Amino acid sequence: MLLGRRFVRREEVTSTNDVAKALGKEGEPEGLVVVARRQSAGRGRMGRTWSSPSGGLYVSVLLRPRLEADAVLRMTVLSCAPVAKAIEEVTGIRPELKWPNDILVGGRKVGGILVEGVSVGKELDFVVLGIGLNVNSSQEGLDAPEATTLSAVLGREVETEILLTSLLRHLEAFYTSLKADEVDEDDYKEMSCILGNWVEARMGNQTLRGKALYLDHEGGLVLRSEEGLIFRLASVNETSIKITKEEENEGSLLRKT
Ligand code: BTN
Repeated sequence: MLLGRRFVRREEVTSTNDVAKALGKEGEPEGLVVVARRQSAGRGRMGRTWSSPSGGLYVSVLLRPRLEADAVLRMTVLSCAPVAKAIEEVTGIRPELKWPNDILVGGRKVGGILVEGVSVGKELDFVVLGIGLNVNSSQEGLDAPEATTLSAVLGREVETEILLTSLLRHLEAFYTSLKADEVDEDDYKEMSCILGNWVEARMGNQTLRGKALYLDHEGGLVLRSEEGLIFRLASVNETSIKITKEEENEGSLLRKT
């Protein structure tokens, strides 16, 4: 196995992504896995905080794919599928994926992915793929009331180490296919709660409404508005999406501003 050829385990760090990035800058080979029990400054996309009390899984993987800098979006989006597969394998819970990086159960967030790339010119020097999962954390420890934990859904604790092992195995298979440009996107499509539905996307003070048609090769989400205009969402750090169900909203809610 490539992933986990070296493990760094810590009780508490600011962010496992910080630790992996610092080692990446020192020339650490790919495959490094950083795991912490708690993070004091865990972060998500759009500058959000990622609550990281003990009981969660906080892991970052250092990778050195020979890809261009814009591969970060594709990696962010598509890596949700192997993470969800690991959750399903270990718990039997089948998550839904919300573009670009959310892992949900029953519409509530249980996990997220933050991929940070360090580039040299147009090429990636390395990426840090950070995964945060609310596993056995207490609900009070989570900032967001709309979040939940795997143990709350399951009604029992989940063995975090078993989940980590499964996660790394699924991520490794994903990474191998990504490098060969052979990612099977069917897994993603089957678990997506966005594709085929009407969504409202906010980017700064702009709001777009449309039906989510497909993912393009870069991981961008392509929408078609009611008027038939085609939009492409491709900014991980500026776009937030709200799902509005197709059946209820076609021709009704979507016309509201
Ligand atoms: C998001 O939902 O926006 C992404 C959350 C990613 C959280 C993980 S926890 C491990 C790694 N370290 C961080 O600071 N963030 C990621």
